[in-house]
Amino acid sequence: MPLVFTDQSLQQCNTLGLPARAQAAVLDDEAAIPGLCREQGAPIFILGGGSNVVMQAQPQHCVLRVALRGIRLWQETADHWIVEAAAGESWHGFVTHCLDQGWPGLENLALIPGTVGAAPVQNIGAYGLELDQRLHSVVAWDLREGREQTLPPSACGFAYRDSVFKRAGAGRWLIVRVRFALPKVWTPRLDYPDVRDHPVLQDGALTPHQVYEAVCDIRRRKLPDPAVLGNAGSFFKNPVLDAAQADGLKQRFPGLRVYPQPDGRVKLAAGWLIEQAGWKGRRLGPVGMHERQALVLVNHGGAQAADVHALARAVQQAVQDRFGVALEQEPVVLD
Ligand code: EPU
Repeated sequence: MPLVFTDQSLQQCNTLGLPARAQAAVLDDEAAIPGLCREQGAPIFILGGGSNVVMQAQPQHCVLRVALRGIRLWQETADHWIVEAAAGESWHGFVTHCLDQGWPGLENLALIPGTVGAAPVQNIGAYGLELDQRLHSVVAWDLREGREQTLPPSACGFAYRDSVFKRAGAGRWLIVRVRFALPKVWTPRLDYPDVRDHPVLQDGALTPHQVYEAVCDIRRRKLPDPAVLGNAGSFFKNPVLDAAQADGLKQRFPGLRVYPQPDGRVKLAAGWLIEQAGWKGRRLGPVGMHERQALVLVNHGGAQAADVHALARAVQQAVQDRFGVALEQEPVVLD
């Protein structure tokens, strides 16, 4: 069946809950993709769970809502379970399913909103683990060339909250399946202090389920549930500075949260910068920065894209004025 794009409301398809209407179609069968490559007219925006997007009211893009489903053990090697999930699977559902099947290794990434297919795009990461550390390969259609390819991690250009799919490849690659290499010998990832110190993990032998419970609990306490209060998670990336610049700032602001990176640069906590700049829990019109985590922009009800842009600019300006640091927006804009 060829895909049919029709005018639709996308307000339920973005976790910020912004009103938007566009030509949209649901992709639930890979067999429809070759036809899509042949018929391409208006540029296509590939939408997963809508948890990392700011939607304009009337985007010019045609929106492809990826709803491909399926999870299987694709291969077993001496050391790894290689598990494959279709792009439209819920990320958290997939993490939970893997645990229940006895394939742990993704539990630090529990409860991240969105879909499996979107996870490599921004190289999701939390609580001491980034997706690229577990990725085996990405199966994607190159919409320009009209063929399917399997990309190893080295072809994905992964960096902190970044990949080739977000930059040069935006609109080119349609991710259909993602494979993960999960080590058969499980070792807990406890680099993040809140996880390491969580009460659930304090006695006896640790299990993957305990780490999962701890991560879910920390997230529920800190981060607003998009089903209750519209948001797109962290709205800015944590800025990465060179060491000299970070040292200078640390001298002026001793409370500055700094995280030295393997490449010698230094990551700063954007939430701390925003809080110090006076924006934690503060509103501008119908939107605001969250009261428990200043890095999360929330929709208190009735917001439009313009409200989000206005607040984002105000916060960026305040942090620039106070610290001389530029904050880069993380969610992409659908226009
Ligand atoms: N902080 C403040 N005030 C705030 C928020 C944070 O002072 O309002 C301080 C905290 O006290 C802490 C530091 O900033 O010392 C870092 O905060 P946190 O541990 O909450 O993590 P983050 O750097 O703000 C990043 C990710 C999150 C991820 C957490 C945990 C980015 C952009 N965000 O947040 O990802 O869950 O680490 O690993 O890297 C997301 O992308 O949507 C997301 C939630």
